[in-house]
Amino acid sequence: MAKLTDSIKLKNKTVKNRLVMPPAVCFNWADTKGYETVSRAQHYGDRAKGGTGLIVIEATAILPEARIVERELGLWEDGHMAQFSKIAAACHEHGSVVLVQLVHAGQKSFGEVVKSSSAREIQGKTCEALTLEEIGHVKDAFVSAAVRAEKAGLDGIEIHGAHGYLLSQFTASKTNFRIDAYGGSLENRTRLSVEIVKAIRESTSDEFIIGYRFGVNDPLMKEDIWFARELEALGVDFFNVSSGIGMEGLEVPKDFPFSPITHMGTVVHKQLKTPVACVFGIRTPEDANYLIENNLTDFVAIGRGLLAEPNWFNKAASGIMPNICYDCKSGCKYRIDGKTCPLYGK
Ligand SMILES: Cc1cc2nc3c(=O)[nH]c(=O)nc-3n(C[C@H](O)[C@H](O)[C@H](O)COP(=O)(O)O)c2cc1C
Repeated sequence: MAKLTDSIKLKNKTVKNRLVMPPAVCFNWADTKGYETVSRAQHYGDRAKGGTGLIVIEATAILPEARIVERELGLWEDGHMAQFSKIAAACHEHGSVVLVQLVHAGQKSFGEVVKSSSAREIQGKTCEALTLEEIGHVKDAFVSAAVRAEKAGLDGIEIHGAHGYLLSQFTASKTNFRIDAYGGSLENRTRLSVEIVKAIRESTSDEFIIGYRFGVNDPLMKEDIWFARELEALGVDFFNVSSGIGMEGLEVPKDFPFSPITHMGTVVHKQLKTPVACVFGIRTPEDANYLIENNLTDFVAIGRGLLAEPNWFNKAASGIMPNICYDCKSGCKYRIDGKTCPLYGK
């Protein structure tokens, strides 16, 4: 029976335990050019020092026009690499494995005219369909950002394929109305993600970890399972399972004690040999141990919990209850400024 404190292999790297810090944007801690204004080496280094086995750095834009918000970390130019080198050094100093999440926000991008799988009007914004030439440009930008991540000293990247951002928009039938090679069948809708994974695999070293934030789009999960197996066959090394577009109606067994999102991770875990992380509302060491010990997942990802408590793992491993995130009803304070989190610095 595996335990939270057990190590696990991710490609040729040993992750020292089963705790993942999933990506969590520290909103407003960057300028408008993709550079940090608050030290991420400190922020992630603190979570590494606190014992976290695997850290996935927050969503980082592959192109300026692909940002979720105006002030967000970027990896679209070489100048951005230095901030990631510092994060890598800070995490490695404490023995954590560290990836960066790469994102194109698609129709959820910052700006008045944005790009997606298909054209539509969204909340006063004009959303245009990417042309085939622009799709090629997006692919190149993912690859260039991944190459920069490796040069900066990170152990790998995580491709953001969830939460309704661009790759979700291509994969989900609800948001992809294309009639070319990137629309229609599931194979066509997942083509862009597949091409990006292949191109990153070819352009980075064999040791470089490719993770995928996998967004579930189908309430029956049939399409998702097919796609997860495809990604696994292509050499994706880590699946961080969360929500996509159109998963409403997904049935969760009555006796499953966690959220539907956590459940989806356990379903993907059962289908794959590749390590999977489950997420959402996993708060206490008891919750985390339950999921690992019952072989429902390989990793537990604790997002807001690790924002609120950098020492989450070390405390849990010593039998001390970590500070537990207050689950602020007005929304996580890190969505505005992490320094206003009621547990910041405590
Ligand atoms: C402030 C904040 C920022 C987030 N940013 C990202 C992100 O950059 N990329 C991503 O895939 N998910 C992001 N998420 C979602 C988290 O990775 C995680 O899935 C979610 O918080 C649920 O896990 P939890 O209940 O342990 O917090 C964010 C969540 C929060 C609260």
